[in-house]
Amino acid sequence: MAAITDCAFRSFMREMGAGIMTTELVSATGLKYSSEKTRRIMKFTPDQHPVGVQLFGEELEDLYAAAKEVEQMGADFVDLNFGCPVPKVVKKGAGSAVLKDLNNLRQILRTVKSAVQIPVTIKVRTGWDANTRNTSEVAQIAYDEGITWVSIHGRTRAQAYSGEADWLYISEVKSKAKLPIIGNGDLTNPQRACERLKESGCDGAMIGRGCLKNPWIFSEALALWAPGANSNLSAVAAGELSRAQAHKNFVYLFERLHSHLATFWDERMISLQLKKLSVWYSAGYPGSAQFRKTIFQVTEHQEVLSKIREFFERLNEINQADTSSEAFLMGGHG
Ligand SMILES: Cc1cc2nc3c(=O)[nH]c(=O)nc-3n(C[C@H](O)[C@H](O)[C@H](O)COP(=O)(O)O)c2cc1C
Repeated sequence: MAAITDCAFRSFMREMGAGIMTTELVSATGLKYSSEKTRRIMKFTPDQHPVGVQLFGEELEDLYAAAKEVEQMGADFVDLNFGCPVPKVVKKGAGSAVLKDLNNLRQILRTVKSAVQIPVTIKVRTGWDANTRNTSEVAQIAYDEGITWVSIHGRTRAQAYSGEADWLYISEVKSKAKLPIIGNGDLTNPQRACERLKESGCDGAMIGRGCLKNPWIFSEALALWAPGANSNLSAVAAGELSRAQAHKNFVYLFERLHSHLATFWDERMISLQLKKLSVWYSAGYPGSAQFRKTIFQVTEHQEVLSKIREFFERLNEINQADTSSEAFLMGGHG
């Protein structure tokens, strides 16, 4: 998720049990101009493997060169964004606009595949609009061109973030597809993630916004899906996981988050990130509205830390109310 799942956040989420991760979308054309900001977005650390770098763009040459750079960086796969609905991106013919021209899609896939040895994956929406949903055709082209998997956000571009992700449509696509399908959209709690994964027959479930209100969502979903599967994690990660899981220990959670942020950001950015994430994590707990007001008024770093501690240390034994029906982050790049 653009401007959220940066390097520090991904390391944190991996420690919290996330599986395969992808960077936010990176402009292939931006890379050509060697933008420092773009390269910062692509950064990942060894603990994040398996990790992919997500590219978008409309120029074949730029995508080819960018994919090569992703491979040289040591990423495990290149992911291509064909889901971004943002006008600035689709106007140029990138993101979800590619779904309107399947010949162009095929060209892009062929070009990027020819650039790298590592797997190439794609992330799509269900189509441009309700009348042109075409993910089965897209999946067939992806299969023909040697793509490793297709992730589907179950909304059309026209829907943006409104309505609900259409998991029935995702199931239909999955039932015909010859390559792995990863379903995405509205997996706001671990139960729903497991239900949708099971009902749809998908090969994987992708969680976006759900981890912003519940940072334990990956480990909880994994525990529901396959009890004991934590043994897939490294011994260190599994140890950290069970410590963090114990009674949803928020104090420990923020210690770990802070430590990841500190390896990547300066104090001003750490404070900003902590404010943003703590407000999301407070959703559904008593006093969250007041906490939100208070924390955004604090300017001094140490005070941010103490306000967070003050609010969260009393929450360990309180259950989080389900706020999944409330609109939340209704805009993004996929
Ligand atoms: C703030 C924000 C930024 C996003 N950025 C990206 C992105 O860079 N690349 C991408 O493929 N999807 C992006 N998405 C879309 C999500 O990956 C996901 O497809 C969508 O939010 C639906 O899944 P969810 O309900 O689990 O969040 C973004 C979503 C949000 C809310």
